Amino acid sequence: MITKCLFPVAGYGTRFLPATKSMPKEMLPIVNKPLVQYGVEEAIEAGMNTCAMVTGRGKRAIADHFDINFELEHQIAGSGKEAYLDSIRNVLDNGIFTMVRQREMKGLGHAILTGQSLIGNDPFGVILSDDLCINDGPGVLAQMVELFKQFRCSIVAIQEVPMDEVHKYGVIAGEPLKDGIYRVDEMVEKPTQEDAPSNLAIIGRYILTPDIFDIIRDTPPGANGEVQLTDALQTQAKQGCVMAYKFKGRRFDCGSVPGFVEATNYVYENIYNKKG
Ligand code: UTP
Repeated sequence: MITKCLFPVAGYGTRFLPATKSMPKEMLPIVNKPLVQYGVEEAIEAGMNTCAMVTGRGKRAIADHFDINFELEHQIAGSGKEAYLDSIRNVLDNGIFTMVRQREMKGLGHAILTGQSLIGNDPFGVILSDDLCINDGPGVLAQMVELFKQFRCSIVAIQEVPMDEVHKYGVIAGEPLKDGIYRVDEMVEKPTQEDAPSNLAIIGRYILTPDIFDIIRDTPPGANGEVQLTDALQTQAKQGCVMAYKFKGRRFDCGSVPGFVEATNYVYENIYNKKG
C-alpha cells in the first residue's frame, strides 16, 4: 500500500505574475476550488492519505487551507452556506498534512529530495498540482497505483504532445508493452524537437521508489541549472526499471494561462454546472 503523496509546491509561478506575487500559484481556483485541493482529492482517492507538502516562502495560505478556520466555521454554522465547505471538510476528515520548506528553488529534483524527511523509505506518489487531471473513472494516481502493484518500480504518467511542444517537458522513449504501458529506455528534460526521442511527454504524476533519493543526491544540475527529476529517473531506468503510463482522462496545464482558462471552462461546464 502506498500511503504518502508528495506535493512540490515551492515554485514561484512566474507565469501568473502579478497574481502570484503574494499568493501561491497552487491556491489559484479552478472555479471555486484551489488547484492544490484537486490534487489532494486525487491522492486521497488513490489511498494516499498523508499529503506531504514541500513549500517555500509565501506559501502559508496552503497550510491554512488544510486546517480548520474556527471563525468561519462558527460564523456559518447552521446556515445554508455550510454546504460550500463540504469538499474541504471531507479532505480534512480524511487527510493528514505534513510540511517542509524548500529554502532555495533548485528544481523539482531538489524539491523531491527536500521531501525525503516526510516520506521515509517507502514508495510514494507525487502530484504537481498545476497539472489538473480529470477522469470519469478512477483518477490518474489511482490508475498508477494499480500498475505499481504489477511492476513494483517507479512510474511516470505520459501524454502525447505536438512535436513543437516537446521542449516544455521531460520526454521518454521506451519499449511498448501493452495498453499504453512502456518500459523506459531514455528520458530527456526539455529537449529540442531534433533531440526529442519521441512525443511522449511526462506530466505531473509519478510513483517513485525511495532509492530515487540517493540517485537525486548524486544528480548534478541539468536543464536550466536545476536538479532535474527526469535526469534522476533516467539513471533509475538504467539501473533497474522505470515504467511510463499513458493515463486515462484529461490533463490541463494550469501552470500556463491558456491551460488554466481551458480548465476553468471545462470544470464550469462539466462539473460545477452539472452539480447545480
Ligand atoms: P514549474 O516549472 O511549473 O515552476 O515547476 P514554477 O516556479 O512553479 O512556475 P513558473 O514556471 O515560474 O511559472 C513544476 C512544479 O515543481 C515545483 C513547482 O511548485 C511546480 O509544482 N517546484 C519547482 C518546486 O517545488 N521547487 C522547485 O525548486 C522547482
